[in-house]
Amino acid sequence: MDTTANIRKIALGRPVFDREEAEATAKIFNAQWVLNGPEVRRFEEEFKKYIGSSQATAVNSCTAAMHLALASLGLKAGDEVLLPSFNFIAAGLAVCQARLKPVFVEVNPRTGNLDTGKLKKMVAKSTKVKAIQVLHYAEYPPDLDSVLQIARKHVQRVTEDTAQAMGTGYAGKKIGVHTDAACFSFGPLKMICSGGMGGMVTSDHKDLVEKINSLRSYGMDKSMWDRRESQRPWIYSVTELGHNFRMSDFQAAAGIVQMKKLDQFIARRKKIASFYDQALSRQSRIDMFHPESKSEPVPLYYVIKILDKTGSLRDKLALFLIEHGIGASVHWDPPLHLHPLFRCYGYAPGDFPLTEELSKMTLSLPLHPGMSDEDAEYIVGKIDEFFQQGL
Ligand SMILES: Cc1ncc(COP(=O)(O)O)c(C=O)c1O
Repeated sequence: MDTTANIRKIALGRPVFDREEAEATAKIFNAQWVLNGPEVRRFEEEFKKYIGSSQATAVNSCTAAMHLALASLGLKAGDEVLLPSFNFIAAGLAVCQARLKPVFVEVNPRTGNLDTGKLKKMVAKSTKVKAIQVLHYAEYPPDLDSVLQIARKHVQRVTEDTAQAMGTGYAGKKIGVHTDAACFSFGPLKMICSGGMGGMVTSDHKDLVEKINSLRSYGMDKSMWDRRESQRPWIYSVTELGHNFRMSDFQAAAGIVQMKKLDQFIARRKKIASFYDQALSRQSRIDMFHPESKSEPVPLYYVIKILDKTGSLRDKLALFLIEHGIGASVHWDPPLHLHPLFRCYGYAPGDFPLTEELSKMTLSLPLHPGMSDEDAEYIVGKIDEFFQQGL
């Protein structure tokens, strides 16, 4: 029996900071610019070098990044965007906030990403679909080749929610260069953390990037930083219905330091994930997701499937782990089409049976570079205990 003193506290994920981030951000207190200034430009440079994209635009969250990526495509209000229903709510919000219509797609339960066979059929039968917004679930990219092939033939435009995919590769290149625009997150549970929030859009399309740059700064043709040395720096012209989605230099300074540690973070995550792979393979009620053949995954959370379509076993295990100090969570239940917000589009239970089943089976286990080997062993031990007791 665990006593309170014996219970470890292991978060699902958490940022790992040290003196370096503290010193880098402390310097900004004495800087002339603290918002969308020189540190933000440096962060953008470092980021695009790492990803291999020609452009990177920093914003204050991935939700903002997805909104701006879609808004930059030049679509008409009400045009349809296909996206998986098995998804984080931000993906659906971004579509609506860009005044577009979300149209959900069934999941491929092997990868947790959209089913490209169903995507192809949906795209072929609708003339209103103008873009696809793909998700990278945990470490698993979708079948991007098929998505791009479908897009080339029908809709042209593809954006990506890469909040969970920093460092992951596909077909020999880092995720972030394959589509029109990819949107990253630097929130507290992500691969790197720029303070509390932060996001980045990468793109190789100059026209999209110019629009995204303008939209993040109220729709101005030039940001304050870009105007600082002009003759009349107070003059700007507003061409777009913009937002204030700018990143602060405090966030960027932390992000730059985190980028330096990224390889180390990734190595540690991979080591813990391979321990889980091995240790959990002996559990007959646990199944794994499977990466697409061309992908080179980097794990974020450790996602597994509990083989019970009702969700009862998954919920019991999650609650048992939480009771023992383990930050297990579920990504995601319910799926997007069952949120009341999207009811106005006519969605109902049963519309996407595989998505609904997967939402009841998936479970995310802690995985972050701050975890020790003993933490991972403790988690696996508790999972063994749960199944041995037939709980
Ligand atoms: C898949 C996915 N997309 C989007 C987001 C939103 O990111 P942010 O919090 O930076 O807006 C998250 C955050 O958890 C996410 O996991």
